[in-house]
Amino acid sequence: MTDELRERVANHLLRARERSTLLTSSVDENDLVRQHSKLMSPLVWDLAHIGNQEELWLVRDVGGREPVRSDIDEYYDAFKFSRSVRPELPLLNPREAWQYVSDVRGKVFDVLEQVPLEGRRLVDNAFAFGMIIQHEQQHDETMLATHQLRKGDPVLDAPPPPAGSAVLTAEVLVPGGPFEMGTSTEPWALDNERPAHTVHVDPFWLDTTPVTNAEYAEFIAAGGYDRQEFWSAEGWVHRLHSKLRAPRFWQREGEGWARTAFGVTEALVPDEPVVHVCFFEAEAYAKWAGKRLPTEAEWEKAARYDPATGRSRRYPWGDEDPAPVHANLGQRHLRPAQVGAYPAGVSPLGVHQLIGDVWEWTSSDFHGYPGFEVFPYPEYSKVFFGPDYKVLRGGSFGTDAAACRATFRNWDYPIRRQIFAGFRCARDA
Ligand code: AVJ
Ligand code: FE
Repeated sequence: MTDELRERVANHLLRARERSTLLTSSVDENDLVRQHSKLMSPLVWDLAHIGNQEELWLVRDVGGREPVRSDIDEYYDAFKFSRSVRPELPLLNPREAWQYVSDVRGKVFDVLEQVPLEGRRLVDNAFAFGMIIQHEQQHDETMLATHQLRKGDPVLDAPPPPAGSAVLTAEVLVPGGPFEMGTSTEPWALDNERPAHTVHVDPFWLDTTPVTNAEYAEFIAAGGYDRQEFWSAEGWVHRLHSKLRAPRFWQREGEGWARTAFGVTEALVPDEPVVHVCFFEAEAYAKWAGKRLPTEAEWEKAARYDPATGRSRRYPWGDEDPAPVHANLGQRHLRPAQVGAYPAGVSPLGVHQLIGDVWEWTSSDFHGYPGFEVFPYPEYSKVFFGPDYKVLRGGSFGTDAAACRATFRNWDYPIRRQIFAGFRCARDA
């Protein structure tokens, strides 16, 4: 059992590192050290920060070993220096950063062989390893967003996702009543997903798919960006101030639209989920459509609730880990798949593509669940609780399966558009 667990951990560590290596070795030195947007760190910061978190938790804490480097912690502490000033710090250069993460990883494999994976909450079920694997994958998704902001010729390449094949109805009725939200048993669930608790949800209708580019273009054509009545007060102020006219990375092409993704400009694919919209745009679209965004609890009930048993599943399709047939995850493709592309990933209630493709904005602020306990450190979740952040669910094409569950919670400011976020609509029944 623990040999199998150690092997699983090792495979996840290797897979995450392959991805970090791809994301950092596919651009030149200048693109590694420069800032592609004020919103992002230099790629070389993410790389060394991945190594530093791994050193802090797995080498020093879990392993009880001597520091690999004790002189750089503060530059890679996300709370000491904001993203915008990181390029000015005395950061490791790319060569030093690769060496550093590889030195740390060498010690971690040693720790993984020796440390008992039980007896202490931090190591039970290899939790700390799972946390660090998810951390690396999360920063890999952030680095992928930095690639999307980078100007220049394409450097990443991937095959297209499968085409839409399922016959779709527009909406499904999610029954009212209680369901179990969150988890107390998922070994690598992070603190904000815990504990499991019962939530009552009124019956509601939920779109079976995320809103597509074609649908979103209709909203624009209907004057959605000029009609204040669709926008919240805060959303309208932001819409004016930031001069929003269309999703980020869209541009006019004749009568229609083109979009640029990872250095490639092409006509919009009508049936792909819209991506790179902020919460306020999602909210305005929903109002225009006569709908609203789902709450976080509604989203999770639609994703997990099995009406045949009353149980909540780990994923819409069941309890098995994600396979390529279920969902568009893990940067296997560099775009969301067309709606209907993952019939095997459908939920018992008939909702498609809840996992993968695009993060979905919900109407909920980010708060701790009843009984929330910080574990193992407050800077992962707790310091972000409050009204400033909106919750996103489901993961995107850039989210690895290791960092994606139907209980997984992401959050960001409602104005952010550089993340791979779209949305789906709901309405009261
Ligand atoms: C959960 C994606 C909001 O990237 O800010 C990375 C994850 N936390 N390092 C982020 C995280 C610490 C976090 N999000
Ligand atoms: Fe981090």
